[in-house]
Amino acid sequence: MTAHRIAVVGGDGIGPEVVAVALDVVRATGVAIETVEFDLGGARYLRTGEVLPDDELEELRGFDAILGGAVGTPDVPPGVLERGLLLKMRFALDLYINLRPFLAGPNRHNDGVDFLVVRENTEGTYAGEGGFLRKDTAHEIATQGSVNTRMGVERCIRYAFELAQSRDRRHLTLVHKTNVLTFAGDLWQRAFDAVALEFPDVGTAYHHVDAACIYLVEDPSRYDVIVTDNLFGDIITDLGGAVSGGIGRAASANLNPARTGASFFEPVHGSAPDIAGKGIADPRAAIISAAMMLEFLGESDAAARVRKAVNATTDTTGSTSQIGDAIRSVL
Ligand code: NAI
Ligand code: MG
Repeated sequence: MTAHRIAVVGGDGIGPEVVAVALDVVRATGVAIETVEFDLGGARYLRTGEVLPDDELEELRGFDAILGGAVGTPDVPPGVLERGLLLKMRFALDLYINLRPFLAGPNRHNDGVDFLVVRENTEGTYAGEGGFLRKDTAHEIATQGSVNTRMGVERCIRYAFELAQSRDRRHLTLVHKTNVLTFAGDLWQRAFDAVALEFPDVGTAYHHVDAACIYLVEDPSRYDVIVTDNLFGDIITDLGGAVSGGIGRAASANLNPARTGASFFEPVHGSAPDIAGKGIADPRAAIISAAMMLEFLGESDAAARVRKAVNATTDTTGSTSQIGDAIRSVL
């Protein structure tokens, strides 16, 4: 058995703490991995001024997967790491799917949730289209366009249909704002309707994003799989996290399903400077992200065992390492 080669980007704050526990859990499954650590994030930027040099990006491309913690320190200006590291990786490695699962038992918000959000990850308002005119004058203009290609939208929607088809409920909801965003929304709706013809066994629905926010709070059981654009996906996945067990359990995968670049698995949360170094961060989001990594690497059995162990210890409290120990002991 050849070991999977994993690039590890612990990052800042609680990032390295939760990633270390996630890697221990992966090793406990018996799946062979070989890890290489990359020093990327706010601390490196403050030390050297570098964010993600091109040669390191090319090195990352060659790995079987990348496991991340979180990047960000209070002293780094906004946008530096987002554009220079996270978005740069998404664009350069063509990580066109951002997949976020939400799974929780009954909680103070609802009777339990089990849905996934497929967020387009390389286009929309995050593509960086736009600019300033007459900057820093009273007549300043800023534009920020939304880029939607038929290819980019269609490959995202097709991925979402395939995912929905693999699940028991076989249902996919398109979330957008087609009534107001009549160009981008129209392209999304037409692509959705066209791809739906290839999946006659998958039920479909359409919700405006504002209505989806109400349903996610009041009745998230409506959802099986949601597909949406980059900006709407960013927002509704934070809401999804809030109604399903909290940020410490929200996992994500930035996928290149065509496998032309390494996919990147990371918790949704940030570096949590307020609790960094205290050993109290919940490692579950990182562990579930690692399970998504195992799944993508073809290690479905190990991935299922990790998910089951996380679910079996859902009420376990304690330090970062205690939660990790509890999950490993169930494995
Ligand atoms: P955050 O997610 O780091 O923290 C928000 C709140 O949730 C804090 O009270 C924190 O203590 C808590 N929290 C987060 N993860 C937790 C965990 N695993 N267990 C227990 N509690 C947890 O978001 P915030 O404060 O907005 O950002 C902090 C830094 O992280 C910033 O520099 C930001 O830019 C960066 N960030 C990085 C992300 C990434 O690397 N993908 C994503 C989001 C933020
Ligand atoms: Mg976000």
